[in-house]
Amino acid sequence: MANRVRAKISALGTYVPPRLLTNADLEKMVDTSSDWIISRTGIRQRHIVDKGVAASHLAVEAAKKALAERGISATEIEAIFVGTVTPDMMFPSTACLVQDRLGAKGAWGFDISAACSGFVYALQTGVKFVESGAHKKVLVIGSDVMSSVIDYTDRATCVIFGDGAGAVVIEPATDDNYCIDYLHEVDGSGGCSLYMPGGGSLNPSSHETVDKKMHYVHQDGGAVFKYAVRNMAEVSEKLLARNGFKPSDVNLLVPHQANRRIITATAERLGLKDEQVIINIDEFGNTTAGTIPLALDSARQQGKLKKGDLVLLASVGAGFTTGAALLRWAC
Ligand code: UT7
Repeated sequence: MANRVRAKISALGTYVPPRLLTNADLEKMVDTSSDWIISRTGIRQRHIVDKGVAASHLAVEAAKKALAERGISATEIEAIFVGTVTPDMMFPSTACLVQDRLGAKGAWGFDISAACSGFVYALQTGVKFVESGAHKKVLVIGSDVMSSVIDYTDRATCVIFGDGAGAVVIEPATDDNYCIDYLHEVDGSGGCSLYMPGGGSLNPSSHETVDKKMHYVHQDGGAVFKYAVRNMAEVSEKLLARNGFKPSDVNLLVPHQANRRIITATAERLGLKDEQVIINIDEFGNTTAGTIPLALDSARQQGKLKKGDLVLLASVGAGFTTGAALLRWAC
């Protein structure tokens, strides 16, 4: 298509709170062992916020780093899209809080609720606004404070999650390094496998909802595991094939970091070698919408991500939401 505007990621910034929650800490809180956690999930530690720190705070720190890397001021940003399922509050949106605190006076924006697919869904939203010509500088953020919705007496969920955020700047591409294509799918029949029943309009917060622990994450871990292994590989394969690529063409798979075994099973299904996959779940746990930008940053720090690399992002989250994005790394 002649003169089609394409969009690229022009900068990346991430932030995790300094406080660590290690497997040894969890051994003292619930009936678990570091060996079990490492062998079943690959996680060794996660970062957890202190009281009073929320998703918008992590988002702002990550966004500041992305803006600094790009060398632009917040006033140049035209739109802010935040993937999160742990907004500071029901409303206003986290995007509004970030807009104010960053001083992004010219930006509008909103939150995107897609759980662990939040970053890839927000990314695609930003990409489309740039490709359409509507905007030239968009901030896309994935930020979650999962520790705010986790029951730290439930060993099946509390060992998995951590807090963290990542932000990218999206701009029109100036060469062949741009976001190529995406494939997102929803299967709402999976809603009952991973959800937080309390606090919404169905079960407004009350003493009863708190007594019944409805304000915490409820998960059928096995069902999520099976769905993730099958679907992350499936959408990835479909996305690559329709763009004329094979898995062997991919320089780096950047998967949602939910469980090391889900990642390795996905990589195996795609026939990828270890060096084609980034795994940092040991350091951060599952930070929901934060995992993919955090993994991109880890890959960059390890020298595994270079300009021009073919990068495949893949996620599965509550919903079920599945997401995949294919791009040539541009910064
Ligand atoms: O981003 C999406 C978010 N969620 C996910 O991706 C979750 C996907 N699922 C998973 O990662 C895994 O299913 C879990 C890590 C949640 C659980 O691992 P699993 O290998 O599927 O364990 P399981 O649920 O089948 O439980 C096996 C055993 C059970 O004991 P019994 O019934 O065999 O005696 C559990 O009670 O392991 C027990 N168990 C634990 N033991 C020690 C469950 N959690 C723990 C724990 N420490 N933390």
